[in-house]
Amino acid sequence: MSDFLQLKIYFSGELVPLSEARVSIFDHALMLGDMVFEMTRSFNHQPFMLDSHLDRLHASLRLLEIDCRLTPPQMKQATLDTIEANLPLFEEGLDYWIRHDVSRGPVSLLHHLLPKPLRPTVIISVLPVIGRITSVADAYENGVHVVIPSQRAIPSRYLDPKAKTRSRQHYQMANLQAARIEERSWPVLLDEHGYLAEGTSYNVFLVKDGTLYTPEPHNILRGISRTYVMEMAARLALPVYETKLEPYDFLMADEAFLTASSYTILPVVQFEGRPVGDGKVGPVYQRLLQTWGEQVGVDIADQAKKIRAKYGE
Ligand SMILES: Cc1ncc(COP(=O)(O)O)c(C=O)c1O
Repeated sequence: MSDFLQLKIYFSGELVPLSEARVSIFDHALMLGDMVFEMTRSFNHQPFMLDSHLDRLHASLRLLEIDCRLTPPQMKQATLDTIEANLPLFEEGLDYWIRHDVSRGPVSLLHHLLPKPLRPTVIISVLPVIGRITSVADAYENGVHVVIPSQRAIPSRYLDPKAKTRSRQHYQMANLQAARIEERSWPVLLDEHGYLAEGTSYNVFLVKDGTLYTPEPHNILRGISRTYVMEMAARLALPVYETKLEPYDFLMADEAFLTASSYTILPVVQFEGRPVGDGKVGPVYQRLLQTWGEQVGVDIADQAKKIRAKYGE
């Protein structure tokens, strides 16, 4: 088994050992949650939709007015170099996560306390998918339970959730509230008008009479896996609508599922303590998961179980 303490991290221009990748205690990320990030995963050691993730990274940087001092091609090259440096640690069957974390560096009021030159913090890590994926290994078959927390999604006119940032207190509150409602349940936040928005790290889809419905892309992060599901649905001749959805629609749906880059798609079998459809994992979900797996050459649910069997949660 690999020693993941040997991982090399891209840290503001250099590849350093994991133990030496240290952020200043005065970093904007720590002081203000002022940091942009991305999470991309691999299938069979090939990064999946890396260009889309990097496009969203640069869009988030632009929105937050962070100058990371790397052009998009330079960021991509740094990413590929970091993957290459770490690949020997990943045996066959064990995929990796690529994490990009970018802030504008230490806060200017405290610059006099820091060694020069000061620079933006740019971190690229290539980490084993153990954790997020192994913790949901059974959910592909058994499904997950969704609850509505009292925490609402933040309207985009106040703080735009289309940027993927580390300002995540509201998602954390939603997670804490969900855990009090039902242990291991998955919160889906409503927006200020009571429409479904998104989860704390996932988008949501409902299925009714063979048609897919997902919340409009205003008060949510426009997930890369959400887009991929819409593309797959088009290929499978399944209509998809981005529309306003209420908790009522969840209760009336035949099926529901969540999407995120780490685990791809997870079926929802219970909503607010009541079964979704017949309370079992539905055929549309199964078709989408299978199609995704075929596209990337990985049995996604089986891989999660194998990794869990080998590495634990
Ligand atoms: C708030 C939020 N919504 C949705 C998603 C899903 O996005 P993606 O499919 O790009 O992973 C994420 C992913 O982290 C997220 O943090």
